[in-house]
Amino acid sequence: MLNLENLLSEFNSQISLIQNKEALEEIRLQFLGKKGSVTELFSQLKNVVVEEKKSFGAALNKVRDEVTQKIEAKKEYFEDLDLNEKLISEKIDISEPFRKEPLGLIHPISKVTQEIREIFATLGFEFEEGPEIEDDFHNFTALNMPKDHPARQMQDTFYLQNSELLLRTHTSNTQIRKMLNSKPPLKIAALGRVFRRDSDQTHTPMFHQVEGFIVDENVNMGNLKWVLEQFLQAFFEVKNLELRFRPSFFPFTEPSAEVDIGYSANDGKIKIGNFNPPSSATQELAPKGNEKFMEILGCGMIHPNVLRNCGIDPEKYQGFAFGIGVERLAMLKYGINDLRMFFENDVRFLQHYGFKASEF
Ligand code: PHE
Repeated sequence: MLNLENLLSEFNSQISLIQNKEALEEIRLQFLGKKGSVTELFSQLKNVVVEEKKSFGAALNKVRDEVTQKIEAKKEYFEDLDLNEKLISEKIDISEPFRKEPLGLIHPISKVTQEIREIFATLGFEFEEGPEIEDDFHNFTALNMPKDHPARQMQDTFYLQNSELLLRTHTSNTQIRKMLNSKPPLKIAALGRVFRRDSDQTHTPMFHQVEGFIVDENVNMGNLKWVLEQFLQAFFEVKNLELRFRPSFFPFTEPSAEVDIGYSANDGKIKIGNFNPPSSATQELAPKGNEKFMEILGCGMIHPNVLRNCGIDPEKYQGFAFGIGVERLAMLKYGINDLRMFFENDVRFLQHYGFKASEF
């Protein structure tokens, strides 16, 4: 028995000192190997007197188990060390290197889209999406433009080959889709791409519109004017706007108007509103000198035929609708003077007019 205690304390003091796996293996051989001291004791078991055999055997088993367990634990410890070392040395840094000059900039259209959405959301409009590839019914017929209606020619349409489909010429298709599948009251806005066969300094074959409409009982032109004024004041951050509501024609609204916004251009710098001298109701609205008007939207009271086409009773409900050119808004707010630049993808345009992510 004394032997066993010595053996165990010898083992404990040795194992507490070792620093590596090789030394551990040596200790393992020294105690548990074929000629190891624990193994030796097992072979001496046959020499032990019968009375002591049982207790000695049990004690020896205990010693062997303890030694084995401690060696295993130490082995695991060394393996963990190895693994950690490996993990550190083989680590790959997948993070993006820090760039002093951020290369990515937000396109002005993305920026104004975000601004427009926020303002209409604040005014209580719910945003809807409509398809860019549309059928004749939702783009024209339901909007009170039956086949052969001359007003269809106002919007030079891209038709898809061998198909009844077309690229929507305006976001007004969202009016129809929404009115067909929901019941008034409705207060909806939709922003997206539209397409027309047109290209010059103020027209591109693809541009963006934001459409808004309300259908309810007792909706009138005054409500329409108020909403547009609120929106434009918030968007341009100017209280003193010059807005010109000109009578106009759209087949899907009656009465209809186009709205021009007054701006002045000094040394290529565009300033919205605050005409000088400020015009009053009695004064002529004609711009003076460097003061100009730009058409930015079409609007009106939704035509009773359109409501009827969508299963809404025009005796009970009225609605107003407007469609605003998003690029025009961006040009006026950020002083961009050629519409085509938006889509030429010249990186210099973005470097000049783009926004940092932090400004978004
Ligand atoms: N859809 C018209 C256009 O694209 C704009 C508009 C929308 C006019 C809603 C009136 C009402 O020109």
